[in-house]
Amino acid sequence: MQINRIILAPMEGVLDYHVREILTEINKFDYCVTEFVRVTNHKLSNRTFFRLCPELHNDGKTISGTPVRIQLLGQSPEWIAENAVKAIELGSYGVDINFGCPAKTVVGNHGGAYLLQYPNQIYNIVNQVRTAIGSNPVLSVKIRLGWEDKSRCYEIAKAIENAGANEIVIHGRTKIDGYKADKIDWSTIGKIKQKLTIPVIANGEIFSIEDAYNCIKHSQTNDIMLGRGILNIPNLANKIRYKHSSLIWQEVIKILLSYAMTAIDDVKPLYHSARIKQWLAYLKQHYPEASVLLPEIRQLKSQIEICDFLKTKLNN
Ligand SMILES: Cc1cc2nc3c(=O)[nH]c(=O)nc-3n(C[C@H](O)[C@H](O)[C@H](O)COP(=O)(O)O)c2cc1C
Repeated sequence: MQINRIILAPMEGVLDYHVREILTEINKFDYCVTEFVRVTNHKLSNRTFFRLCPELHNDGKTISGTPVRIQLLGQSPEWIAENAVKAIELGSYGVDINFGCPAKTVVGNHGGAYLLQYPNQIYNIVNQVRTAIGSNPVLSVKIRLGWEDKSRCYEIAKAIENAGANEIVIHGRTKIDGYKADKIDWSTIGKIKQKLTIPVIANGEIFSIEDAYNCIKHSQTNDIMLGRGILNIPNLANKIRYKHSSLIWQEVIKILLSYAMTAIDDVKPLYHSARIKQWLAYLKQHYPEASVLLPEIRQLKSQIEICDFLKTKLNN
C-alpha cells in the first residue's frame, strides 16, 4: 500500500504556530490542524482567531506554503456553526471539529470526547456547521473510537458522514484508553472505513516508518495523521514519505535553537522556555542526547540563556 496524505495533528499546548512553522519547513505535510479553540456561547474575536492561527495573515498557509485548518471544540451547534463561518471568512483552510479530546475540563463541559456518547448531537453539530458554511469549504471531524467502548463507532462515523462532513480523522482508541500504546486499534478504523464513502484519515501511535505501514495496512486507508511521533523525530513525515533517515542530533539542536530564537520576540518569555523543555522530553524518546541536554536546560531560566547554551552545543 502507498502513503497518500500525511497530516500534522493538532496538539493543544504543544504544537503552536512556531512549531508548525518549523515542522512544515522540514517536512511535506498536506495540511495542518490548529490546536483546538473552545466555543461556548458567543462569536470569538478576530484577535482569538489570529492568535490561534497567525497563518491567517498569510492566506491561511504556513510560510512554507502548507495550508492550516482551524479546529473548533464545543457543544452548541449554533455557536460552533457561527464560529466556523467566521473561521472560513478569515481564510482558514476549511474547518475541523473536535470530538476526541479527553481532558477533564473539556468533557466536564460536555465537549470533545464526551459527545461520542451522543451520536445524534454530533450529527446536529456537523449538520449545522455544514449548512452554515455552505457546500464548498472542507469540513473535517476528528473522533476517537468511542467513549468507554467501541460499540457505537459505526453509528458515530455514519452520523458524521450523513451530516455532510468531507472527511473524518479517527484516533484509534476510546476515551478511556487515553494514550495507552497497547490499546491502539487500527483495524477498527479499517472496518469503519468500509462503511463510509468519505475519506478516512488514520491516527494514533505512529512513531516510525514501520508503524506508518502497519497503520495503513490495518486501517486500509492511505491517509495518516502524525501527532507525538513528529515531536520525537522532527522529520518523521519525510522519513515515511521519502524514506529519509532521521535528522542527526546537530540538526535537531539547530531546530531547537531556531525555536528558541523565534521565541525571544514573544511577550511571554517563560512560555517558550517551558515549551523547549517539553519538546526535549518528546525528543528523549528517540535521541539519547536529549536526555543529557534536558537536565542542563532545566537549570536555565531565560530564553537568552537557553539560546546561548544551545549555541555552545552546535559544534560540540
Ligand atoms: C498534548 C496533546 C495535545 C493534544 N491536543 C489536541 C487538540 O487540540 N485537538 C485534537 O483534536 N487532538 C489533540 N490531541 C490528540 C492528537 O491530535 C492525536 O489524536 C493523539 O495524540 C494520537 O496521535 P499520536 O499517537 O500520533 O500522538 C492532543 C494530544 C496530545 C498528546
